[in-house]
Amino acid sequence: MRTLIAANWKMHGDLSWIQKPSEFRALFPAGKDNIEILLCPPAHMLEAMVGASTGLDISVGAQNCHDESSGAYTGELSADMVAETGATYVILGHSERRAIFGDTDNWVAAKTSAAQKAGLRPIVCVGESRAEREAGQAEEVVGAQIDGSIPADARGDNIVIAYEPVWAIGTGLTPTIEDIATIHDHIRGCLTARFGVKGADKIQILYGGSVNPENAQEILALKDVAGALIGGAGLEMKSLAAIAALA
Ligand code: 13P
Repeated sequence: MRTLIAANWKMHGDLSWIQKPSEFRALFPAGKDNIEILLCPPAHMLEAMVGASTGLDISVGAQNCHDESSGAYTGELSADMVAETGATYVILGHSERRAIFGDTDNWVAAKTSAAQKAGLRPIVCVGESRAEREAGQAEEVVGAQIDGSIPADARGDNIVIAYEPVWAIGTGLTPTIEDIATIHDHIRGCLTARFGVKGADKIQILYGGSVNPENAQEILALKDVAGALIGGAGLEMKSLAAIAALA
């Protein structure tokens, strides 16, 4: 299993960014390490990004999809439409989607199933808010999100989980190394309860939230951290390559 270093560009960038895959590879040549690089640009550049990544061993993913295959859903993309661009991943249930656009656990589970059916590998995000952490509810909240957002047929090759504490996103704050280890262990436990040791062991769990070249080494060294989902530091290929070099 390769360590997954994923950049979520959110609503940033323009079509000139399709040179970023080659910019990245100039800094971090392919095949150097057992690392998979994933770029998740805004939807308008998905197809061009797939083209620009071909032959560079860089995967491309979307940041959302709808659970229906087609219909009167203005502004939405179905999982098949995402797959048609050549993208192979889709981020689902990001806390910004949950907080701003009303994605619920149920809806995330339906989107995840649709993505799997379309042959995409969904990255399902979970994470507690600041208030929930301070109330000592982080494990309970994350456990409930895992139970509600992950469909019954999850396997290592058809799903990735990302633990992203909401309060750590874009703030420069991160949980302690011990707290990250505790939550990842808890997620592994929830997955094991549902899918058995064999099924759960193969599911990659990423950490996301203010990952940068200064803290990546310590976080990525944790036993159950199989990669990172990176926001701000993933917009610059220099810092993304620096993080990949530490993985
Ligand atoms: P930052 O790395 O900017 O904190 O964002 C994390 C994130 O939301 C990735 O999905």
